[in-house]
Amino acid sequence: MKIAIGADHGGFTHKEAIRKHLTDRGFEVKDFGTYSEESMDYNDVAIKVAEGVRDQEFDRGILVCGTGVGMSIMANKVDGVRAALVHDLFTAEATRLHNDTNVLTMGGRVIDEDLALKITDIWVDTAFSNDERHARRVGKINHYKGE
Ligand code: RB5
Repeated sequence: MKIAIGADHGGFTHKEAIRKHLTDRGFEVKDFGTYSEESMDYNDVAIKVAEGVRDQEFDRGILVCGTGVGMSIMANKVDGVRAALVHDLFTAEATRLHNDTNVLTMGGRVIDEDLALKITDIWVDTAFSNDERHARRVGKINHYKGE
């Protein structure tokens, strides 16, 4: 599985830990920055990661900002991206089983590093259920054009 990761200054330290953790687990990880705790706009990293997922260069994306909110809003603007803001283990699993999310966002100022890594593991390791009702609902998300 190829995974794109990114963060702003609010998520930098968690992103560093996630990169090491996933690399140690054997995943192919591309880090789109940011590369320090200097203030920057989360939008720019979110778009790079989300477009990489949209273009199928990566199977999944993981984004961390202060709250995870800006990253999720921005990533969900990209066609084909289903980004979920997750801060608990139940949602980490459910959003893969039910929503087939392809981008995970978290808040570096909301949860500690240990929980972020546990959420990451569950989210990466859980396959979409492929249940008919969930596939139908994901299809409705994918086909909505906002007109
Ligand atoms: C940066 O201060 C903060 O606004 C950002 O990390 C994120 O929380 C936005 O949603």
